Amino acid sequence: MAELSKEILIHRSDIAKRVQELADEISRDYAGNEILMVGVLKGAFIFMADLVRAISTPCHTDFIRAASYGAGSESSGHIVITKNVELAIEGRDVLIVEDIVDTGLTLRHIVDTLSLRNPKSIKVCAFLDKRKRRKVPFEADYVGFTMDDGFIVGYGLDYSEQYRFFPDVYVIQTRVD
Ligand code: IMP
Repeated sequence: MAELSKEILIHRSDIAKRVQELADEISRDYAGNEILMVGVLKGAFIFMADLVRAISTPCHTDFIRAASYGAGSESSGHIVITKNVELAIEGRDVLIVEDIVDTGLTLRHIVDTLSLRNPKSIKVCAFLDKRKRRKVPFEADYVGFTMDDGFIVGYGLDYSEQYRFFPDVYVIQTRVD
């Protein structure tokens, strides 16, 4: 059975501070250009909403959704795009906004798929990076926070569709009754 840790792992004030830092860095890097920001549903919806409002570069926004078929909370490696980007990508500066890079399988597939549509550039901004859990090599260009292991919820992230609405980030702890 899974239960929430009682302590907050990342407080909303630290999230807000870090999101503004990321937004400042992105605004500097894309100065004079226009970003096509692509949020990965569903987990990135809150992070993207905060990020897009903190960036000073003009942005267009769209979404993509990927399903990973397999058991439990881990990617199986078989990734399918279930909702694709509807705006034109060719010649655009695409910034993919994702909640977590874990095994790297989802983002590897999304980046490879969108690259076929000839963007001018394609970069990734992830709220959280679990670097040690990669199954395929993948480096995000902008990372909010890093952690080694553990399963987190809140700020858009879910455990079986629960807890997305929490403004702070918590760790899920498993216990055996
Ligand atoms: P990857 O393909 O293994 O990199 O999986 C990335 C996806 O797994 C993320 O977009 C999340 O939806 C989900 N995920 C991985 N770790 C967590 C976590 O700790 N909490 C919530 N979702 C997670």
